[in-house]
Amino acid sequence: MNKEIASSQTSKSRLVDLFSRSISYLRLSLTDRCNLRCIYCVTEDEENSGLQKVVHAELLTYEELLRIVSVAVDMGISKVRLTGGEPLVRRNVIDFIYKLGQIQGLTDVRLTTNGVLLEQYAEDLLHAGVTKVNISLDTLKPERFKKITGVDCFEKVWKGLHKAIAVGFSPVKVNVVAMRNINDDEFTDFVELARTLPLQIRFIEFMPIGESTRWGKDSYISSDEIKERLMTQFGRLTPVEKKHADGPAQVFQLEGDCMGSIGFISPMSHKFCDRCNRLRLTSAGTLRSCLLCDQETDLKSILRAGATDEDIRKALVEAIRSKPKGHELAEQFDQHRNSCHGQMSRIGG
Ligand code: GTP
Ligand code: 5AD
Ligand code: SF4
Repeated sequence: MNKEIASSQTSKSRLVDLFSRSISYLRLSLTDRCNLRCIYCVTEDEENSGLQKVVHAELLTYEELLRIVSVAVDMGISKVRLTGGEPLVRRNVIDFIYKLGQIQGLTDVRLTTNGVLLEQYAEDLLHAGVTKVNISLDTLKPERFKKITGVDCFEKVWKGLHKAIAVGFSPVKVNVVAMRNINDDEFTDFVELARTLPLQIRFIEFMPIGESTRWGKDSYISSDEIKERLMTQFGRLTPVEKKHADGPAQVFQLEGDCMGSIGFISPMSHKFCDRCNRLRLTSAGTLRSCLLCDQETDLKSILRAGATDEDIRKALVEAIRSKPKGHELAEQFDQHRNSCHGQMSRIGG
């Protein structure tokens, strides 16, 4: 490694990659386990044979996670998102989040959940220090929810969503993976929901990740197509200016009275790699510098071999140095190739 870069980056300076992107956002996949089996996440083979899960002893312990986050925050990480699998199925997660919130310099602890356990946990999450909650919900129809997720529990998620609003999370973001002939007849209903509730509804372009892609290009819908359809019906969409900590969504306000907003996450049609500020820690304890690139640094092995904080710093710098300039998923998709074989639940989305 170039010694100058190594020494300047292992100090308390900001984490900057080879393309001058500052890395300030760490996504932690707390577990690859989940209480749902979404069609885009679990393959038919996995469902039939039982998913290859990271066994408990192979997950980083909460102590290990807290140590890594402390070092990362010391180096410039200020925002952490807890993902999974489903983060709320991991035991004693509230206690862990509380401890995470005590780390000096960590200003933003967010959570992405499928909402199934949110009614039960929303209040605790708020008190433990979670600042924002994103809920994955691809349909508002209970029957269809069962088809998409494999479990008949739309009502639970619906109640969880309302509870999150009631306890004061704002705005609650809803992630809708846009799928042609699966939920594209519901985009209007989702927009109507943003009118009456303080929600940010985000339509996400489907990404062909790993082996879990159970459908072909026919299911993909671009954000531009969705936007056009919505504008025909709802009129002008006014862009909302981004705040520093905001993720990749482009957010718009609807005309007329509206409690919430709508957004588009367009990794396929409008790549946002040039302003990517994130690093991921998978549920298997590996650092992954890009969602869509399989290269990973095995931080768990380094840690369990007796790493010092300096070793952890070096591993973080190493991972960030390997961050690719961008992904080529759209091009590969066109050629029926796929270079990203990772499991979404392990990586954490
Ligand atoms: P906010 O900070 O609330 O805006 O969250 P976020 O959009 O970063 O996180 P969330 O977990 O809600 O992710 C929403 C969607 O964006 C998911 O489908 C993610 O897979 C996708 N996404 C998030 N980060 C990236 C990224 O770095 N690259 C790509 N290609 N997709 C991403
Ligand atoms: N393409 C786009 N989004 C996906 N998600 C899971 N798999 C995919 C995929 N293949 C979304 C989930 C969740 C977020 C973390 O990632 O719906 O909201
Ligand atoms: Fe679970 Fe999320 Fe995967 Fe759905 S997408 S099965 S909610 S981890």
